[in-house]
Amino acid sequence: MNGRLLVQNATMILPNRIVEGDLRVSDGLIKTIAPFGGLQPEIGEEVIDGTGLYLLPGVIDPHVHFRDPGNTEKEDLESGSRAASAGGITSFLDMPNTSPNAINRSLIADKIAAAAKKSVTHHGFFIGATNSNVSDLQSVEGMDGVCGIKIFMGSSTGDLLVHEQKHLENIFANTRGIIATHAEDEERLRSRITKFEHRKDIAAHAECRDAECALIATKRASALAKDYDHRLHIVHLTSRQEADWLASNKGDLITTEVCTQHLTFDQNDVEKLGTRALMNPPIRYTEDKDKLWQRLKDGTIDCIVTDHAPHTLEAKSVGFPGAPAGMPGVETSLPLMLTHAMEGKCSVSDVVKWMCKGPAEVYRIKNKGSLVEGFDGDLTLVDLENNRIIQDSDTWTKVGWTPYAGMEFTGWPIYTIIDGNIVHKREIGGQLRGIPVALPGSTGRLLEFN
Ligand code: DOR
Ligand code: ZN
Repeated sequence: MNGRLLVQNATMILPNRIVEGDLRVSDGLIKTIAPFGGLQPEIGEEVIDGTGLYLLPGVIDPHVHFRDPGNTEKEDLESGSRAASAGGITSFLDMPNTSPNAINRSLIADKIAAAAKKSVTHHGFFIGATNSNVSDLQSVEGMDGVCGIKIFMGSSTGDLLVHEQKHLENIFANTRGIIATHAEDEERLRSRITKFEHRKDIAAHAECRDAECALIATKRASALAKDYDHRLHIVHLTSRQEADWLASNKGDLITTEVCTQHLTFDQNDVEKLGTRALMNPPIRYTEDKDKLWQRLKDGTIDCIVTDHAPHTLEAKSVGFPGAPAGMPGVETSLPLMLTHAMEGKCSVSDVVKWMCKGPAEVYRIKNKGSLVEGFDGDLTLVDLENNRIIQDSDTWTKVGWTPYAGMEFTGWPIYTIIDGNIVHKREIGGQLRGIPVALPGSTGRLLEFN
């Protein structure tokens, strides 16, 4: 569905400048960008008054775990994409640790078919690597909607795991496209989990799954990328050690990302929030958080993601260490980062670079990530003047909570637009959850990759 829409009088965050003006989407594409007063409504066009609002490209979240298929009571492609659209996200890339794991062409095709019916946003899918599925990985190379291969080098939620060198080498040697790795060293994890078994306090999580676990795996994956001349993306960077090591060793083949929560939380928040803040790799320490910001600003870290991992509060309530790892994030990531911007941590243009352009470049997503004539008409119009406190009850995720409950954010999307169609809207001062506009499957397409 290709929309026709005109946004007038918004503050537009363009690639190299900020301009007050108008933007027209026609046939689903950004047709014209003009300074204030440059564009007048045409017959049959939806007109949005952008006065007082900032116009950004739609956010691309390249790291979500919607639980479809298998655990759709926690999230499915409809609820997940709905939550994403409420957060200004117009495209997502979904991880393979569903049930069943997405590890072959037919299971990927099932996800793509489900998304066509359910998703309200654009979407792409990772295929998961196992010890023995190289031919399956090869079978989806170049398939529409497949963004890359995911390797869990250390165990996390689910049973996807490839940690032995011979299997890793086999995958790097015999596949193309980008490999995204969860970089925690399985051997070190196993030995430390045994050592930490007696600890019931949540601070033990970051001590056990320490920076060394992450650094070993990051170095190992990087060496494989270089040995086999293979593109590699290291997901959710958490430690100052990895960030500094990558700053001097990244080269052209390697990219990396950071989660909003690792830029926001540290050991003090873990103590306060308990299992809500439990995730893998862990929330670490103030020094790590500060270093991740530094390495984001100097360009070592390419993009920001949510790692949206919906677990129920009931499952979280069993306490540490039994509670599952992960937290929801798609509907709060943009307001959270814009709040950081308004507090002076970075600029609004930085947020666009890290959440729109960055993911499009890492995954070579066609025609997205910037407000440029000819690009897709995926937009979000945000309000940077009002602050709102978010509570669990304001969320769309099926698990019904947010680790940011009680925090005050600005930058709430007033309109989220996909291919020129309004998918989600909010009234300033109205219900924070906002109003879903699009029917499941009526907006959003399979992403295309270069
Ligand atoms: O905390 C996490 N949760 N880390 C992961 O690697 C997976 C995720 C999930 O799927 O729950
Ligand atoms: Zn993840």
